Amino acid sequence: MARIKTVYSCGECGGQSPKWQGQCPHCGAWNTLTETTVAPPSANSRFQTWTAAASPVQRLSEVQAEELPRTPSGIDELDRVLGGGIVRGAVILLGGDPGIGKSTLLLQALSSLGATKKVLYVSGEESPQQIALRASRLAVDPGRVHLLAEIRMEAILATLQAEAPEVAVIDSIQTLYTEAVTSAPGSVSQVRECAAQLTRVAKQSGTTILLVGHVTKEGAIAGPRVLEHIVDTVLYFEGDAHSSYRMVRAIKNRFGAANELGVFAMTERGLKGVSNPSAIFLSSYRDDVPGSCVLVTQEGSRPLLVEVQALVDDAHGFQPKRLAVGLEQNRLAMLMAVLHRHAGVAVFDQDVFLNAVGGVKIGEPAADLAVVLAMVSSLRDQPLPDKLVVFGEIGLSGEVRPVARGQERLKEAAKLGFTRAIVPAANRPRQPIDGMEVIAVERLAEAVDYCRG
Ligand code: TYD
Ligand code: MG
Repeated sequence: MARIKTVYSCGECGGQSPKWQGQCPHCGAWNTLTETTVAPPSANSRFQTWTAAASPVQRLSEVQAEELPRTPSGIDELDRVLGGGIVRGAVILLGGDPGIGKSTLLLQALSSLGATKKVLYVSGEESPQQIALRASRLAVDPGRVHLLAEIRMEAILATLQAEAPEVAVIDSIQTLYTEAVTSAPGSVSQVRECAAQLTRVAKQSGTTILLVGHVTKEGAIAGPRVLEHIVDTVLYFEGDAHSSYRMVRAIKNRFGAANELGVFAMTERGLKGVSNPSAIFLSSYRDDVPGSCVLVTQEGSRPLLVEVQALVDDAHGFQPKRLAVGLEQNRLAMLMAVLHRHAGVAVFDQDVFLNAVGGVKIGEPAADLAVVLAMVSSLRDQPLPDKLVVFGEIGLSGEVRPVARGQERLKEAAKLGFTRAIVPAANRPRQPIDGMEVIAVERLAEAVDYCRG
C-alpha cells in the first residue's frame, strides 16, 4: 500500500511546502501553513494516463462558434457586469466584505430568474427562516425560489442531480464541506475541492452556478487565487459600508468584458440599480474647499465623476504618514517624487492622506493628475478653480500622458455642469465641446501653474 503523504499548504495562497515553516515560501504570509494529507496516486495511474483514449484534434476553423445564449437576470446593473446575462453552465464567483449585500443581490436575481427558470438557493450560512424574512423584506416572489439549507457537498451534489435546477446559488463556498478532503470547512483545500466539484457539475449538467465567496482581511477571496482560476467569472462587491452605494465589478469574465462596473443603492427594500451613476459621488462636493479635485474616471463603458480629496499637513514624527483610500498607495509615493522633481513642490516632510469619496476603488492611472492637483491645493490651502474636472496619467519624467476615451469623459463632465477641464495634450478634443474650456497640458508643471491662478 502506498504511504499517505503529508504536505503543508498555505491558507492564503494554497502553495504547498514539504515541511513546516513560519513563512510561506510562495506568498510570504506568516503562520499560514497547515498540515494536510494528500492521497497517493494509485499504483498504475501513471500508465492509465498514457493509455486513455485521446480526444480528437480539430482545426480551429472547423469548430462551430456559436453565440452563447444569455438569460438576463432581470437586474440591469448585474447583467451589465455579466456581459448581458447569465450563460448556461457558467460558474460565477461573487466576492465581497461581510454585510455588503451579496446574499441580498443573489436572492433578488434568483427570484427574478425564477419567473422563467428553475432556481435553487443553497444556504450554508442562514436558516430558511432568516432567508424567508429577507425575502419578505425584499418583496420578491418567494414561490419561485427553491431552498436548501446544507453544508455537506455530497448532499448538495445529490440535490443538484435530483432537482436539476437551471440556476443555483451557493451561499457561501467557505461553509461547504466535502468528505474528499479532511481539513476544516473554509480551508484552502476544502474551498478548492468544493469549487472544483461544483464546476464539474455545472459543465456537465448545464446548471449555472453562482458562488458567494468571502473576502479576507487583505481583500482577496479566501482560498483566493485558486478559486479565481477555476471559475468563469469573478465579480467583486465594493463600496463604503457607511454609504448606501455599492459597486459590483467584473475582475474576470470569460463571457464578456472585464472591469465593467454595476452600481447599486442599498435601500430598505434591497438593492436598486443606479442606471445613471456618473454624478452619484458628487452629492456632497463643494468646489471652494482646498484639497478637493474632481476626477473623470472611466469605469467599464461609463464615465464616472469622483471627488479625490487630499490632506497634506506638516508631519510630527520621524516618518511622515502616507495613506490612500480607494487609490493606489504605491503610486502615491511615485507621484510625490515626480511632483518634487518636475514641478518643484516638495511634500516629503508632510503627512499625506488621500481619499476617493464614496468608496469606489480607482485603479486606472488616469487618476494621477487629480491626485497631484488635490495634494498641491491642500498644501497651498487654496481651492482649485471652480467647476474644474481633471484626468491624465503622469509619467516619471513629468509628462502628462493621454488616457482612453478622453472625449467621452469631457462630454459627461460638461453634461453635469463643469466648465473647465485640465487634460493631457493628446486628449485635446478635435471640435470644441459646448460650455467647456479645455486646458490641454503636456507637462505636470503646466497644470500646477494653471491652478496657481
Ligand atoms: P447581505 O446581503 O446579508 O450581505 P452579505 O451576504 O454580503 O454578507 O446584506 C445585508 C446588509 O444589507 C445588512 O447590513 C442590512 C442591509 N439590507 C438593507 O439595507 N436592506 C435590505 O432590504 C436588506 C435585505 C438588507
Ligand atoms: Mg450573506
